[in-house]
Amino acid sequence: MKVSVFGLGYVGCVSAACLASMGHEVIGVDVNQVKVDLVNDAKAPVVEERIGELIADVVRTGALRATADVREAIIDSEISLVCVGTPSEPNGSLCTTYLERVTEEIGAALAERGGRHTVVFRSTMLPGTCLNLLVPILEKYVGGTAGVDIGVAVNPEFLREGTSVRDFFDPPKTVIGELDAASGDAVLALYDGLPGEVFRVPVPTAEAIKYADNAFHGLKIGFANELGAVCQALGVDSHQVMDVFLADRKLNISSAYLRPGFAFGGSCLPKDLRSLVHAAQRADVSVPILAHVLPSNSDHLQRAVELVERAGKRRVGMFGLSFKPGTDDLRESPLVELAERLFGKGYDLKIYDANVSLSRLLGANREYIENRLPHLAQLLADSVEEVLEHAEVCLVGTRDPAVLSALPHGDAPVIVDLIRLPDAEARRAEPGYMGLAW
Ligand SMILES: NC(=O)c1ccc[n+]([C@@H]2O[C@H](COP(=O)([O-])OP(=O)(O)OC[C@H]3O[C@@H](n4cnc5c(N)ncnc54)[C@H](O)[C@@H]3O)[C@@H](O)[C@H]2O)c1
Repeated sequence: MKVSVFGLGYVGCVSAACLASMGHEVIGVDVNQVKVDLVNDAKAPVVEERIGELIADVVRTGALRATADVREAIIDSEISLVCVGTPSEPNGSLCTTYLERVTEEIGAALAERGGRHTVVFRSTMLPGTCLNLLVPILEKYVGGTAGVDIGVAVNPEFLREGTSVRDFFDPPKTVIGELDAASGDAVLALYDGLPGEVFRVPVPTAEAIKYADNAFHGLKIGFANELGAVCQALGVDSHQVMDVFLADRKLNISSAYLRPGFAFGGSCLPKDLRSLVHAAQRADVSVPILAHVLPSNSDHLQRAVELVERAGKRRVGMFGLSFKPGTDDLRESPLVELAERLFGKGYDLKIYDANVSLSRLLGANREYIENRLPHLAQLLADSVEEVLEHAEVCLVGTRDPAVLSALPHGDAPVIVDLIRLPDAEARRAEPGYMGLAW
């Protein structure tokens, strides 16, 4: 394919050289003439493992050249990769100035070129940037419709500086956010022959995936380092701890606990986080990530309260009360906490949980309920139907099949989904449906 690559920084330079080595005819574009000259002299404008030899090879064979002339590059290519920088503004917001400028330039050149051309954004940008900011610029300059006259895709970059050439040829995954199938097909053709799973998703999803990845990577490093500091203060070898931690592929290094859902609770997680953070504080070890896990959880629970408030109704039905399906354990159940907050705000509550009935509340649970939710007996209903008859708003916090099959569709009662119902994707279009975090 004939490819133009805008921005010859780390990402653009590696993409351009690797694509050229795969047999594409590549033209790199940068506003910085020094970088353009370096590439044309068969030298790499960035320091990176293997990039020097690769650029020397592909420039010598004529597969890669560079220019500062946008028009020349666009006329001579069928697909453009935009790899310009998107740095932070001083207030933390994303700077889209370079993206906007390069999109204007590409749009103006495309207006002259005619014929379909696909613009692929590789730069990291927040969800909505492509469709709300860049596509309108392209359409204005080209005088056509994106997805019809111009192809548009978002193809985030997952290379790591230091090993980016290696990562290019062995990517963890390829994500293609496509405006239309033809745009996605063009990106796919570009990487033909590379390993790794390909995900074709809507444009904003592709933009968000990059943020999910980087936020998680930062979180993992912060978690490991905080845990290391606590272990050190407690005289434990953190690497030995993490060796065992990492060997657990069921609960630790796995997809467990990584889907947005309701707040956590139970008799272990809150208690153990509290005592670990307390131990760190006593040892003068600052652990801001660990210290904010419980506040984050409480804020998440509050989102459910806010959804009920937004529904603007007083009669609330709640399905589920115990902290885990199939148990009657109510200690630190987030659903009990939610019922309490709603009860405290004067909502008219009815609750159904097949596993919880007062007669089965024994020992610690009975005590817990008597202390935390003394009016539970009045609030508990004996059947799904009783709650449905009462409710203007239904809070669904259980996967009990009897509850799921009875939930109505439409605009009343309002369904506040705390668990991502099995049919949530279809329900999201219904006027009475509210997902907690989806
Ligand atoms: N560096 C990484 O490891 C990495 C990894 C993944 C994603 N990303 C993302 O990729 C994007 C690029 O990152 P980078 O590190 O390569 O940036 P960089 O700053 O190294 O390079 C950007 C290049 O774009 C050029 N440029 C700016 N405006 C231009 C224009 N109008 N026309 C042509 N060229 C123009 C600049 O001169 C510069 O050479 C960013 O959004 C970044 O967040 C970077």
